[in-house]
Amino acid sequence: MTSQPVHLWIRAEVKSQEHRVPITPEIVKKLLDTGFKITVEKQHDRCVADAEYEKVGCTMVEGGTWRTAPSDAYIFGLKELPENDDSPLTHTHIYFGHCFKYQTGWKDLLARFRNGKGVLLDLEFLQDSVGRRVAAFGYMAGYTGTAVGIDVWCNQKLGSGALEKVNAPYPDADALKKYLKERIDAAVEKGAVLPRVAVIGALGRCGRGACDFATEVGIPEDNIVRWDMNETKGGGPFPQLLDVDILVNCIYLTEKIPPFITTDMLKETSETRKLSVLVDVSCDYTSENNPVPVYTEGTTFSNPTVVVPDVGKVMEVVAIDHLPTLLPKESSERFGADLLPTLLALPQVKEDEVWCRARKLFDDKLAEAEK
Ligand SMILES: NC(=O)c1ccc[n+]([C@@H]2O[C@H](COP(=O)([O-])OP(=O)(O)OC[C@H]3O[C@@H](n4cnc5c(N)ncnc54)[C@H](O)[C@@H]3O)[C@@H](O)[C@H]2O)c1
Repeated sequence: MTSQPVHLWIRAEVKSQEHRVPITPEIVKKLLDTGFKITVEKQHDRCVADAEYEKVGCTMVEGGTWRTAPSDAYIFGLKELPENDDSPLTHTHIYFGHCFKYQTGWKDLLARFRNGKGVLLDLEFLQDSVGRRVAAFGYMAGYTGTAVGIDVWCNQKLGSGALEKVNAPYPDADALKKYLKERIDAAVEKGAVLPRVAVIGALGRCGRGACDFATEVGIPEDNIVRWDMNETKGGGPFPQLLDVDILVNCIYLTEKIPPFITTDMLKETSETRKLSVLVDVSCDYTSENNPVPVYTEGTTFSNPTVVVPDVGKVMEVVAIDHLPTLLPKESSERFGADLLPTLLALPQVKEDEVWCRARKLFDDKLAEAEK
């Protein structure tokens, strides 16, 4: 530990519907025990009550006061900073900046860091020596995405039409599983057989979460089809996928690949196909390389599905890009636990390889934005 304690300042999230936290009080306690100083901005709708942070020994302050934090404090959050603000950023921020992949407004955000001499150590790019992310929300995205897919399937089987909304967030995974087990039982009572679920990218973070959720709500192992690179190496489209009820796409898309399914094949097999729900966890629908090119718009918890038009038998798609917020508590617990070893290395920020790589990436992107 350096003589000055590392000061982490957990800011309130301003993004609507964001109930997750970057670290839970349990993890905070571990950092405090090793000498960190931790300030937490109050936020009434977090999945963890303010009092829990206070109980473990954090200093509590009002939301949005990070701008006046001591200059050496790390401003720590998850999602976007308040929008419509071009003020210079003077601190070192740790959060998902969504600006290193040239997203809309990337240069504007980096200009704020340049103008304030601040730094962004982006959570998405904290990677180990082989390029693996040290912490990510993928597992819970696959887990919750499969939950929404099963919910949509139940609605179809219960003859209830399109699913109006998903009651996000759930207090915990047990509550979500209880709700879905009851829905599955009701569908089965009405004559449905348990769904077959295919997960592509099954060996990845999202894919593992997807398979686990299916298992945990009682889908038999024989009904879960697990595909990864090996199974798709022959190239799509794959007519076998029409024989499952729910397809969960969890791949990490890096290049153009033949599509897994197409609208033509959905249409041609309208009379025979079982497939009626696609959960596109990967959500690459804006990419020309999208391997499930049967829809063009994202969905939300308040409007969870789009219907693929003109393909006969119903085919609904879930494409929610903030799936882990359905279970903010478990999502936050997993993320914080994975991040802990990296946070513990913050006192050595100038030598630790994860933080050094993140800093270099920021410097490179800043230089690129200036060109
Ligand atoms: N919707 C959401 O809320 C949400 C949240 C988190 C992540 N994501 C997205 O989910 C995707 C997956 O993330 P992850 O963390 O699980 O990645 P990951 O790297 O852990 O796993 C991806 C898996 O896909 C497999 N794969 C890649 N190409 C494939 C192909 N052609 N055929 C079969 N398998 C293939 C890989 O082998 C790997 O096992 C990313 O695009 C990520 O941005 C979405």
